[in-house]
Amino acid sequence: MSVLSGKKIILGVTGGIAAYKTANLVRLFIKAGAQVQVIMTPASVDFVTPLTLSTLSKNPVYINFFNDELSTTSTETSKTALWNNHVEMGLWADFMVIAPATANTMSKMVNGNCDNLLLATYLSAKCPVYFAPAMDLDMYKHPSTLNSFEALKKFGNIMIPAESGELASGLSGEGRMAEPENILSFIEKDITSKLPLKNKKILITAGPTYEAIDPVRFIGNHSTGKMGYDIADAAANLGAEVILVSGPSHLKPKNPLVNVVRVTSAAQMHEACHNYFNNVDVAIAAAAVADYKPKNVASQKIKKNDSAFTIELEKTTDILASLGEVKKNQFLIGFALETENEIEHAKQKIQKKNLDLIVLNSLNDEGAGFGKPTNKVTFISKNFTIEPQPLKSKEEVAKDIINKIVEHYA
Ligand code: CTP
Repeated sequence: MSVLSGKKIILGVTGGIAAYKTANLVRLFIKAGAQVQVIMTPASVDFVTPLTLSTLSKNPVYINFFNDELSTTSTETSKTALWNNHVEMGLWADFMVIAPATANTMSKMVNGNCDNLLLATYLSAKCPVYFAPAMDLDMYKHPSTLNSFEALKKFGNIMIPAESGELASGLSGEGRMAEPENILSFIEKDITSKLPLKNKKILITAGPTYEAIDPVRFIGNHSTGKMGYDIADAAANLGAEVILVSGPSHLKPKNPLVNVVRVTSAAQMHEACHNYFNNVDVAIAAAAVADYKPKNVASQKIKKNDSAFTIELEKTTDILASLGEVKKNQFLIGFALETENEIEHAKQKIQKKNLDLIVLNSLNDEGAGFGKPTNKVTFISKNFTIEPQPLKSKEEVAKDIINKIVEHYA
């Protein structure tokens, strides 16, 4: 999966011959799973048609501050002009790409000129801005162009250098806009290199465990694994290498970079976790591990004979506590599900299991617990800082947990 998946991109197209290549660039962004909003300068429409870019981006293309077309609502007969809100678009985007960036547009960006919608959006945008210059070789080397490059970089914009080759003038040299494939990989690499959990390895447990009674029966629980899978996705999305040790679950991580190790029982989960724990930076125990398992597992299916039937249970190993015992520098996060005296019990678990952070679920909270899409948690750190959180979707709780890790390493 591309790091551009789900990203909102404004592609600013300015008036140079390389504008024709933006059709391919839009295609590549869309293929990578991004949403694309194209804004063109009036001069660029001579080089590539708005209809082409609109069709490929699956969005209207904006050129002017006002829409040329007037909209009519079904209930009104009067017509209203539509304002293309550059401030809103600037804030909507995760990042902006100006490609091709002509000498003229770059000079205006340097000086804060604002005589078209693209420049107004650029000035309003708070997100990272990439620019891919394109011009003839002598223009590319001109001191004023070089000044523009330096000034734009000083403002924090990111330059995607031009490539060398044959130019529209017939001359050959530096100044050709980077090929769309190269623009895409430049941006992907740049984003990946800045992800906050890059170079971090995270072990996560998820789901229930099944403890065999006989070859066909087991003791399990209603955990779907959703919380752990959401945490795994959130960590991988921020660049972490993730090992997800999952008990039986129908779920699949959304981020294909998550490595899933599938296990069934608490003993298998324990073994898998210890295989990886030494080499990870963080471990998060989100699994609903069975606390007890049958002492003896029948080798053949147990026949129903008597009116009553008893299974002798013994404790499973507490995986989280066993990780706490051998922990070195790992940041260790556990969950606690409590029904009474919640904070006190959670604090005791922090100490007993040698944790750095505990995520407390209270069953007294509406919307928290198994099988629900939401969760209401309280974070308690090892120095007993208590941070109650509002009711949120499990995806959001997962992001909050991962942000705690980002904060820890910040
Ligand atoms: N846990 C684990 N291995 C177990 C039991 C629990 O790794 N055999 C982990 C869970 O993944 C969770 C945490 O321990 O992160 C807390 O589990 P919980 O059931 O709330 O508490 P327990 O320690 O089992 O204590 P009790 O049930 O007595 O409250």
